[in-house]
Amino acid sequence: MSKDIYDETESNQARFLGEQWRIIKKITAEKAMKPDILIIEREQQFLAAKDFRSKGWVTRNLWGPLNLMYEKFILSKLDGIAQIPRIIGLEDYNCLLISRINGDEIKKSRHLLSENFFDQLLKIADDLHSRGVLHLDLGHKSNIMVDHHGNPAIIDFNCSLYLPPNTIFRPLIRLLSMVDQYSILRLKIKFRPQDSNPSEKRRVERFLRLRKLWIFDRLISKLTNSIQKANRPQ
Ligand SMILES: Nc1ncnc2c1ncn2[C@@H]1O[C@H](COP(=O)(O)OP(=O)(O)O)[C@@H](O)[C@H]1O
Ligand SMILES: [Mg+2]
Repeated sequence: MSKDIYDETESNQARFLGEQWRIIKKITAEKAMKPDILIIEREQQFLAAKDFRSKGWVTRNLWGPLNLMYEKFILSKLDGIAQIPRIIGLEDYNCLLISRINGDEIKKSRHLLSENFFDQLLKIADDLHSRGVLHLDLGHKSNIMVDHHGNPAIIDFNCSLYLPPNTIFRPLIRLLSMVDQYSILRLKIKFRPQDSNPSEKRRVERFLRLRKLWIFDRLISKLTNSIQKANRPQ
């Protein structure tokens, strides 16, 4: 099974935006369709680069650029929400620079979670929904970050959906926003079981049963497998 490689020891330099930056962390994605993530620093400014440049041809030239353009489009709808990365710019058509969230993934920061962490997370999700953005991948623990004060931030919008928040789409947004809310509730049960009540647990179980019928889960995994095959060296 493929897994990401975390490397915090190597201290390399790299050029971004015409300047020399220090790479302070590199997460090399072994999955063919995922970008490498570089956390870079220059004069006390920290950025994150989502970088498809080392990937196979199909990912580097088709999947990666489409993926980044889409994420950039979604992030542009969320401009001004503090707990979301800001767009800095494109280094290349297959390398996107965004602001760094100063913290770590929730699975590594369980001990830091503030008491109202999940209420804050639901509030951020509400802010996204009011702009018409549905994250739809909050169940994935690596998309929830925790800062050093134990507060949440949300990253990774490439599975998100944007619907204009007008009278026509608002009912649909309200319906689909339940996917994000249940995903957050599920994380709350996992990470703060002492704060979760039986009714929340029952609601999440019902949601998980419904999700098994979600055809897109299976379609996405088929698509991933085909692109991985196409990228494999002959
Ligand atoms: N803006 C950011 N600030 C800090 N770390 C980040 C940022 N973006 C990504 N990361 C790190 O990289 C990992 C993968 O990034 P993500 O955007 O979820 O990409 P993927 O599409 O590979 O899931 C995250 O779990 C997080 O550890
Ligand atoms: Mg992710």
